[in-house]
Amino acid sequence: MKKLNGNKKINISVFISGKGSNLKNLIEFSKRKKSKFFISSIISNNPKAIGLKYSKKFKIKKKIINFINPNLAEKKILFFLKKEKVELICLAGFMKILSKNFVKKFKGNIINVHPSLLPKYKGLNTHQRVLNNNEKYSGCTIHFVTSVLDSGKIILQKRVKISKNDNAVSLAKKILKQEHIIYPKALMRIYPNL
Ligand code: GRF
Repeated sequence: MKKLNGNKKINISVFISGKGSNLKNLIEFSKRKKSKFFISSIISNNPKAIGLKYSKKFKIKKKIINFINPNLAEKKILFFLKKEKVELICLAGFMKILSKNFVKKFKGNIINVHPSLLPKYKGLNTHQRVLNNNEKYSGCTIHFVTSVLDSGKIILQKRVKISKNDNAVSLAKKILKQEHIIYPKALMRIYPNL
């Protein structure tokens, strides 16, 4: 938790790989009148990520980093984040796993959204696995990132009821809607004194 002086806002970098609906949602949240959050950059490992369009739309710096050499990629990112004075990383559909060393450098300051009720259904293809197991509920989780995939401390979760007619696509859609609600709430929860 950081104490703020004066009008300082928390400087956030959002990491994406795809559509970027969570990114867009976080940008809109950060632009609200009394917001204490500022999204200073968007980082993507994927040059074709649709979410990169929000860089232009909202005039936010973007950085595309290829992960062919993950070590080098992380070095470049760390250099950039330091230069930009980024305080918090929000992973939002970022499909690369960050190394132990990287996570250490940002200890306690990386959060992620995962489309399941962690600790259940870590990893990929969550919705289909949930349906295959005939679960009655699924949901989403905002959690701190550690070097173990989808395993850091949970900040917020939202449960979603699965209906008989749900398939992986409809469930993903329902859950994404909830992700957009709890991600901003989680930000306010980790900085309660803002
Ligand atoms: C979300 O469902 C998130 O939980 C998962 O990837 C998806 C990203 O969606 N990690 P978007 O790119 O934010 O639209």
